[in-house]
Amino acid sequence: MELGGFKMFNIVSSWNKRRRSRSLDQLNPWVYKPAELWQAKENHPPPPKKRSGTMVFTLKEMEAATNMFSDRNLVGKGGFGRVYRGVLKDGQIVAIKKMDLPTSKQADGEREFRVEIDILSRLDHPNLVTLIGYCADGKHRFVVYEFMPRGNLQDILNGIGEVRMDWPLRLRIALGAARALAYLHSSTAVGVPVVHRDFKSSNILLTQHYEAKISDFGLAKLLQQDQDLHTTTRVLGTFGYFDPEYALTGKLTLQSDVYAFGVVLLELLTGRRAIDLSQGPQEQNLIVGIHQVVGDRKKLRRVVDRDMPKASYTVESVSMFAALAARCVCFDSAGRPAMQDCVKELQFIMYANMKI
Ligand SMILES: Nc1ncnc2c1ncn2[C@@H]1O[C@H](COP(=O)(O)OP(=O)(O)OP(=O)(O)O)[C@@H](O)[C@H]1O
Ligand SMILES: [Mg+2]
Repeated sequence: MELGGFKMFNIVSSWNKRRRSRSLDQLNPWVYKPAELWQAKENHPPPPKKRSGTMVFTLKEMEAATNMFSDRNLVGKGGFGRVYRGVLKDGQIVAIKKMDLPTSKQADGEREFRVEIDILSRLDHPNLVTLIGYCADGKHRFVVYEFMPRGNLQDILNGIGEVRMDWPLRLRIALGAARALAYLHSSTAVGVPVVHRDFKSSNILLTQHYEAKISDFGLAKLLQQDQDLHTTTRVLGTFGYFDPEYALTGKLTLQSDVYAFGVVLLELLTGRRAIDLSQGPQEQNLIVGIHQVVGDRKKLRRVVDRDMPKASYTVESVSMFAALAARCVCFDSAGRPAMQDCVKELQFIMYANMKI
């Protein structure tokens, strides 16, 4: 009886296996199928890393880590200040961001800075740059992150370095960034949704193996004078990535990040900068013209980044990607998808890129 049951189980399970593999073979991206099917591979993200808590550093420790902020350790400069490569006492290599705070913040900002950084350091996701600690010593403010050896996406797209990114790699980067934004927008980590406020390709950093991690999440808030989360008097962010609705009304929403995400998708697709003043008036802004390209394969082929090996993409995948980007940069914020929907669509677009 038991043997019979065992045999029966074997027959059923091998029939199931055959049925599964046959139906997978027959998958066609244009045929409806339940979400679980094409998400199957993506359902098990690696477990989040456990961290022992935020480290607090003194100015002396920051100086020692960067060899007195020597120019040899300078990695770059952005809207918040300079970034240095540093080595901590325990040998860990880190990126140290020396913050240039507005004068008003220097006077009273120490406690608030600590609170904000403590909140941000509770965010933990494989596609977020790990915040290791901070220093709030006198007037000095530093944020210490894990060091990302491949630099930022914008530099790679603009040909700084030798890397030519194929389409699957670009899709992986887009998906990683989408997951990180979806995580920030969900209230799972700190109880309230976190708006990035300065999402752009230079804030997508890459690991040794070109995994995407977002940096500078929540930092723009630290520079803001006005504490109201939803209406700000001063527009913060970067030219080329502004949500037009935010620029007009000062109303900051999660959808402002979605707009900026759409601009990054267009950069990945075309290899062009968000704003390129060296182009003619019609081509300076990357999002102008995207709506004409969507649905027109001929026009679409012309805008696809020539640096991308042709054999690495399917037309279906590229046109679905352009359509998603166009929805993200929709002028009306209500017409933009949520980040969680972008994650699902990108998984599907990846699937559509598998030639079958
Ligand atoms: N964790 C890090 N690891 C390695 N390099 C980093 C890290 N964080 C920043 N950088 C590099 O430092 C440089 C300056 O970064 P920074 O964030 O200050 O400027 P940005 O991203 O251009 O603008 P913003 O200030 O608006 O974020 C960039 O080239 C970036 O690649
Ligand atoms: Mg940055």
